[in-house]
Amino acid sequence: MTKVHTDAFIDRADFVHFMASHRRQNSPHPLKFWKATGRPRYLLEVFSLLLAISILFLAYRYYFGSLADVFDEKLCAKPVTELCLLEQQVIDACRVSANCEALSQQKKDAAAAKQTDTPLVLVEVFYEVLCRDSKEFIIEQVFPAFQKVGGIVNMSLVPYGKATERQDGNEYVFTCQHGPNECKGNIIQTCAISLCEGKDRNLALSFVNCMMVSHDSAGAGPSCAKDVGVEWAPIETCSTSSAGNKLQHIMAQRTDSLKPKLNWVPWVVVNGVHTQDIQDQATNDLRKLICDTYKGPRSPGCDS
Ligand SMILES: *[C@@H]1O[C@H](CO)[C@@H](O)[C@H](O)[C@H]1NC(C)=O
Repeated sequence: MTKVHTDAFIDRADFVHFMASHRRQNSPHPLKFWKATGRPRYLLEVFSLLLAISILFLAYRYYFGSLADVFDEKLCAKPVTELCLLEQQVIDACRVSANCEALSQQKKDAAAAKQTDTPLVLVEVFYEVLCRDSKEFIIEQVFPAFQKVGGIVNMSLVPYGKATERQDGNEYVFTCQHGPNECKGNIIQTCAISLCEGKDRNLALSFVNCMMVSHDSAGAGPSCAKDVGVEWAPIETCSTSSAGNKLQHIMAQRTDSLKPKLNWVPWVVVNGVHTQDIQDQATNDLRKLICDTYKGPRSPGCDS
């Protein structure tokens, strides 16, 4: 009995010892476990994560980058004239292909006019920046017509309207129908037109159109310059200098020498002639009036 008891006791002590050593072998202390196997496994996980991110990134680039089917806001914010010089993929993605086709048509028309020695249709528009009818006419008739048939027309904008002027020393002092802000806006457009003269009529027209679209037409200069891609600084400098003052005086003289005298804005003169009929046709469909007046080969822009 005693032996059995002793045996059982010894057996039990052995068992406890055995279990303790077994536990040590098979499930070591957590710190030992991390030390032994943790670091390689951790690195592997980080590596897998990086790999997954790279694959996702490449997939994103493939679908949205190389297929160029997504609207890249920053790129597409560039002026249309600049975008049109880039590859077709970009032009399509920014949805300016119609504008770019119009620009190239303008160039073809202008070249054809030169080659056939056909004078451009001279359209002079006398207007003022804060007048609602002027804004409407430029937005709905002048700018769209120019985009379509800009190659066969000499669009000449005269932002002065019903303003008056008086000389004060070497400067002219202008008084405008809608107040000093309108005078400021008029001179800004005069300067923009003058600075683009002989370079890019599209830029001047786009700039003027942008200002007219704005609710704050007289104050929209800086943002419109940025939008259409003209430098604002020279326009601003001109508009506050005596150079701008003199340019505006020329606009005043052109307006004051109209025959018949201007009694409405916008006032339209085609090839030097203003009649009520010309005015009505221009207000209804300026593009058609330009196309009907032009003597050279008909522009595709007249029918598209
Ligand atoms: C456009 O008309 C102006 C007169 O307003 C003239 O001085 C200029 O030479 C004309 N430009 C072209 C390209 O016909």
